[in-house]
Amino acid sequence: MSTLTILLTIIIYYGIQSKYHYWKKRGIPGSKPTIFLGNIGETLLMKRSLGEVLTDIYNNYPILPFVGIFISGKPALLVREPEFVKNITVKDFGHFVDNDSFDKKLDPILGRHPFFLKGDEWKQSRALACFTASKMKSIFPLIQENCRQFVDYIRNQEDAFSSKGIEAKSLCLKYTLKNVTSCAFGVESNTFGDPDDEFLYLAKRILHPSTKQAIKAFFLKIFPSLFTILSVKFIPKDVEDKLQNIVSETLNYRAKHSVVRNDFLYTLANIKETHSEFTDMDVTANATLFFGDDYEASSILLSFILYELASNPDAQTKLREELATVFESILSFDDLQQLNYLDAVVTETLRKDPPVFALSKTCTKPYTYQSSSNDGYKNISKKALVHGLQHDAKFYQGPEKFFPERFLGDRKNDLNKYTYLPFGEGPRMCLGLRFGLMQVKAALIHIIKNFIVTLNNKTQVPLKLNPTYPMMSPVGGLWLNFSKVG
Ligand code: HEM
Repeated sequence: MSTLTILLTIIIYYGIQSKYHYWKKRGIPGSKPTIFLGNIGETLLMKRSLGEVLTDIYNNYPILPFVGIFISGKPALLVREPEFVKNITVKDFGHFVDNDSFDKKLDPILGRHPFFLKGDEWKQSRALACFTASKMKSIFPLIQENCRQFVDYIRNQEDAFSSKGIEAKSLCLKYTLKNVTSCAFGVESNTFGDPDDEFLYLAKRILHPSTKQAIKAFFLKIFPSLFTILSVKFIPKDVEDKLQNIVSETLNYRAKHSVVRNDFLYTLANIKETHSEFTDMDVTANATLFFGDDYEASSILLSFILYELASNPDAQTKLREELATVFESILSFDDLQQLNYLDAVVTETLRKDPPVFALSKTCTKPYTYQSSSNDGYKNISKKALVHGLQHDAKFYQGPEKFFPERFLGDRKNDLNKYTYLPFGEGPRMCLGLRFGLMQVKAALIHIIKNFIVTLNNKTQVPLKLNPTYPMMSPVGGLWLNFSKVG
């Protein structure tokens, strides 16, 4: 190697190294990062989930309002103080308006997902009235019908009633996919009966990237600036075309036969009629968002609730007692709001086992980070990650215990809302929260009224999370047994 090459290598090395002094130079504490991997090396090398890595960092700095970390090469702050969470999600939201985005031309569906939209386009997408309380009421009968089919499906699964058991997430995915097809695409699919169902295939193609895509995604995490050069498209073209065809065919059929079905597609079609800028692709993109946010997130939530109820039989019995007062056949959307223990069970699972590991807030306007214990760090325009408060004993006594009672009566009022963030907070809070909770609660009523759920010994307790998956996913799965209620 020539002297010039050695010299250049040393200069480049120190150039890259100096990026990792960002927090040290500003006097913000944090663990020493590793070059290229930052503080999340174990996740990038697929050894531990992001949630577990962030929990360790959170716990290692018990008295700090925030910790300086590096997500591969990029500095970010891990926020540990509720007041601070309030500032970045609500009070100073103007500095954290946008999320990371996708190129609409390259990825027309993801580029139109409200989570990735920016500025006025994002504001307009939020204003579209898809998830109002009245919409939930009108869509509830479709969910009810899917719940009945779900119970029938479980009844016919011999494994669920034998020592073999049944895996909770795979089970719940059948139900949430049924909701995606009937409520968002307006199509009657056979997700319960047919393992080759078209929507099952599409969901797999959208949510499980090919090896080539996974390799590209890995490099993007380490070198995000390669994003445009690698021109990564996450939803393959043939899947995009198929989704667009399903939507167009259904809309055409409805127009031709004057079909009115009170689902999300109907609302999206009405928006298209009244907003000239809302195209067919916007309708498809808004229906497709249900795959990631509804199919996936809601099935994770439902499977963890069943796991918690199987692990805590007293809570399950208490819930069944409350549900004895409602009848599946006359259950309405309003009835759901009256069931306090059901609400506490769902709320506690979202606290203990949130499907999304962390909130990620991109700082888009220079910002002075301030906490109750310092005068402010000026102009740190860096991303803020929020994770860990829901498991902090300062805010939740015995945080590792499943204790729905902490969300009942006066106790609930004592909790600081900025420590409870499964759906985020502020103007960018989860848009589909109402729909997600409605379908999860409806399914629970039907399941717990009909079956006693117990833990199958194939579940590896304590749970270990899958390091390669970006959401809560336990290694080996959550295995359950069902038996019929007496
Ligand atoms: C039930 C389980 C669900 C959980 C735990 C969940 C969680 C979240 C979280 C943590 C965020 C980010 C909030 C932030 O950055 O502050 C989010 C955003 C979002 N969620 Fe959900 N979600 C769920 C279900 C759904 C459903 C069913 C839909 C719609 C079908 C949905 C649609 C969205 C959208 C569109 C955004 C982006 C909002 C924006 O940026 O303005 N989610 N969700």
